[in-house]
Amino acid sequence: MPGELTVIVLAAGGGTRMKSKTMKVLHEVAGRSMVGHVLAAVQQVGPRRVVAVVGHQRDQVGPHIQDLIPDALLATQEEQHGTGHAVRVAMDAVAATGEVPTGTVLVAYADTPLLEAESLRIFAEEHEAAQRAVSILSGVLDDPHGYGRVVRNEVGEVEAIVEEKDATDDQRTIREINSGILAFDAGFLVDVLPKLSNDNAKGEYYITDTVHLAREAGLHVGAHEIADFAQTQGINDRVQLARTGRVMNERIVTRWMEAGVSVMDPATTWIDADVVLNPDVTLLPGVQLLRATVVEEDAVIGPDTTLKDCEIGAGARVVRTHAELAVIGAGANVGPFAALRPGTTLGVEGKIGTFVETKNTQIGARAKVPHLSYVGDAEIGEGSNIGAGTVFANYDGAQKHRTKVGRHAKTGANNTFVAPVEVGDGAGTAGGTVVRRDVPPGALAVSGGPQRNLERWVLSKRAGTPQADAAAAALEAVEQSE
Ligand code: UD1
Ligand code: CA
Repeated sequence: MPGELTVIVLAAGGGTRMKSKTMKVLHEVAGRSMVGHVLAAVQQVGPRRVVAVVGHQRDQVGPHIQDLIPDALLATQEEQHGTGHAVRVAMDAVAATGEVPTGTVLVAYADTPLLEAESLRIFAEEHEAAQRAVSILSGVLDDPHGYGRVVRNEVGEVEAIVEEKDATDDQRTIREINSGILAFDAGFLVDVLPKLSNDNAKGEYYITDTVHLAREAGLHVGAHEIADFAQTQGINDRVQLARTGRVMNERIVTRWMEAGVSVMDPATTWIDADVVLNPDVTLLPGVQLLRATVVEEDAVIGPDTTLKDCEIGAGARVVRTHAELAVIGAGANVGPFAALRPGTTLGVEGKIGTFVETKNTQIGARAKVPHLSYVGDAEIGEGSNIGAGTVFANYDGAQKHRTKVGRHAKTGANNTFVAPVEVGDGAGTAGGTVVRRDVPPGALAVSGGPQRNLERWVLSKRAGTPQADAAAAALEAVEQSE
């Protein structure tokens, strides 16, 4: 681990190319904001302090950063006068706390979600080992356009970073570039910041000018080439956002496969950064596991399933399902074509079957709602079976009410439970029952009168229709056979 570390994350820029009312660094990759990814990597390096420079839409960005790292220092850059100005604002904020930073100061950008802690750690350690005033995390690119170039002297020592707009034609041919991530000796940084000028093509204070200022002061500077340059690439528009999302997803899916998860089709499997999976989970094609979803071992998810903030028990099977804030017990079966809305819990070995929608409902162990039903605001006891086509009518037009079904109850097909209502343990209901009153334990509820057949009703009331013709033909056949 490096010595005392201060990390400055620059997040003041506008990000206009996103064309969004949402600040650029708040856009999400794998269910986490860009700046959230950067801060997560930064945190893993164990910094003494994190300073975030905010400017544009800081009313959105500031609270988000504070949520993620409550003790992060927020430095406000009212107007963006360049990266050197931004770092100065950050260091002023540190000074205002009365602390004097020592050790290393890392500067990173908030729009590089692919950045990994390991790369930052190696860079900071190398910077410290080489006892440099400034280190540049560099890359060598076929197309260096737009980047600051790393200028070296005849013996190969780093002399300066020259920005694209300030570079000579010769300098523009240099393919070694500044990724934007820099490491400083804290004391040097404090001394050099007031010496930056804005006498350049953009009229901005460039943090990159610190390199030649260090050289002129006879201090060590150097560059460390990052192994995986993509980690430092900033996102500027939604095309890059989507590409980065795919790269991030590939990284996450690969990590889970290495940890013992079977993924049949990585290209159509999307796993958010905060999801937790266990060995021998199987993911079939077309699965999205979002936010804080957790899947226990041996569960099989998919195909074509979206789970957001769900907990899936060991060995459960979830097929063609959309579920949000639901808890599914071990060995349970869900789907195909199930919609589990927030507040659904399904007990061990329970079932929520085909074309079933549930909401704010607790279904007990081994209880089943197998077919074509809506279950809202209900509690169903263990081992009970709900007949096909049942509706839990939870809404009276003004208020929601709950239905309680006891243990080992068996309800008939095509029932309506008009809440609030209770069906006792071991009770039953006949097919087509509209349950408006409580059913005592062990009772069978039957509603509606006995069936009446109004003979020849169709022939008189629907004369001339195919229905009436069919009826007439059938009745005639019966008469002839008699
Ligand atoms: C910067 C570097 C360049 C490097 C490139 C890598 C400088 C002068 N140049 O150029 O050498 O190759 O990044 O991408 O540092 N920001 C602020 N406040 C400001 C200005 C910028 O917070 O006043 C933030 C921006 O939001 C952005 C980052 O700093 O995240 C970089 O700023 P940008 O203006 O994009 O710098 P580049 O011109 O790309
Ligand atoms: Ca940039």
